Amino acid sequence: MRERSTGEIVAYMSLIMDAIKLSGAEKELHNLKYPFRTIPAMKIAKLAVDIRFSERYKGIGTYMVEAAKGKALFCNEDYCAARFLTVDADIEHDKGVLAFYKKNGFLPNDELFNKNRKTISMRKDIYT
Ligand SMILES: CC(C)(COP(=O)(O)OP(=O)(O)OC[C@H]1O[C@@H](n2cnc3c(N)ncnc32)[C@H](O)[C@@H]1OP(=O)(O)O)[C@@H](O)C(=O)NCCC(=O)NCCS
Repeated sequence: MRERSTGEIVAYMSLIMDAIKLSGAEKELHNLKYPFRTIPAMKIAKLAVDIRFSERYKGIGTYMVEAAKGKALFCNEDYCAARFLTVDADIEHDKGVLAFYKKNGFLPNDELFNKNRKTISMRKDIYT
């Protein structure tokens, strides 16, 4: 995402396809009826807002999450499947990112892929 007047990069994001394993209780929470544990997803692999712009463009991180959701919904129309957006929230450098993702509708996953807790595996249902 670039600033229109200067062309400078304000925020960037990298998206990759992913899959998460959910428990029975987690599946119920999302009203998922099918019998498989592994659910297709799109992962926010990288997300960053340039600190020089974060005051001027408040909400840009949230906008990027919404843009990722839009991409995931769009890909379901055609070439791949995603029920969730996922992220490994990097709490090693800033514990606040957990609050950022929670405010954007992400829930921590029961099954933590990264047990050293430098990151928290989270998901957001793109259909709610
Ligand atoms: C995390 C990041 C993408 C958030 O972007 P942002 O543009 O500041 O986020 P928003 O303005 O959309 O914030 C939405 C809400 O989350 C809160 N929030 C955002 N970053 C936060 C943080 N680091 N700690 C606590 N709360 C935070 C905001 O205060 C805001 O709350 P409000 O709605 O109650 O006002 C940005 O701070 C960043 O690039 N950080 C460095 C890289 C990074 O940690 N990326 C994530 C790696 S998984």
